[in-house]
Amino acid sequence: MIKEILDWDSKFFGFPVEKIMLDRFFNKDQFLMLMAESSAAVVYIFAPQDLSSEQELVISSSGAIKYDIRTTFEKQITSGAISSQIVKISKMQDELQLLTWLAGEHSRYNTDPRFRPYFRKLYSEWLRKAFENIDSVVLTVMESGSIAGMIIISMTEIAGKIELLAVSPEFRGHGVGSSLLDAAAAICFEHGINKSSVVTQQQNIPACKLYTKNGYILTKQEAVWHRWKVINKEDV
Ligand SMILES: CC(C)(COP(=O)(O)OP(=O)(O)OC[C@H]1O[C@@H](n2cnc3c(N)ncnc32)[C@H](O)[C@@H]1OP(=O)(O)O)[C@@H](O)C(=O)NCCC(=O)NCCS
Repeated sequence: MIKEILDWDSKFFGFPVEKIMLDRFFNKDQFLMLMAESSAAVVYIFAPQDLSSEQELVISSSGAIKYDIRTTFEKQITSGAISSQIVKISKMQDELQLLTWLAGEHSRYNTDPRFRPYFRKLYSEWLRKAFENIDSVVLTVMESGSIAGMIIISMTEIAGKIELLAVSPEFRGHGVGSSLLDAAAAICFEHGINKSSVVTQQQNIPACKLYTKNGYILTKQEAVWHRWKVINKEDV
């Protein structure tokens, strides 16, 4: 059982955020004691997605609610192609804001009502950082002069990661998402990177199918719970 204080999250949200990682053999009493002692406003609990119902009851007895089955896909990159509609963007544009929020619509920061007021600000911050980070690339697909879809990739020396991906509702189902993935693969390949990963939510069926169709393989699934601290009336 590993507990850590999340400095970036705490600073961004303006309240203390902690994370606890559970393995499948976690000690129930130790877990409940950690939760009781925690002074964080919210604790993210990362746990194997296939715990027993008894173990899940222990987690929920701490007041936690499951908001996500965090699902990781990976792909070995051997090639890629950049279609003529792909445009690399180097400066922030207002049209990208909406796509950024669409990219996160299934995220636990949107599905958890206590995080929802911060959701847009959080995703806008990730978009802003992508333009600051020299290892990130923002690609769009242009259709009749407007942005039909967007992908943000970040790269290390050995691996690429798809950070955000969204297609405008009116352009979905016409291969825009696939062409963005193909372009991202080409960019990674040009940088000598042969592995790419992406994290999505199990409940995001279109995204899971899109990744599978484009050669990504499911490599990891874990449940993410949020336990918000109950504020006593006398503390308010
Ligand atoms: C997921 C998303 C990017 C797909 O973009 P798209 O341009 O519609 O995808 P494509 O047209 O390239 O579809 C390729 C494949 O993805 C799968 N797919 C796409 N949309 C789907 C849907 N609504 N239901 C089921 N499968 C779907 C299919 O396997 C499809 O292949 P097919 O057309 O041969 O059946 C788009 O739906 C979207 O922006 N969703 C909201 C944001 C989001 O969830 N982003 C991912 C965050 S991780």
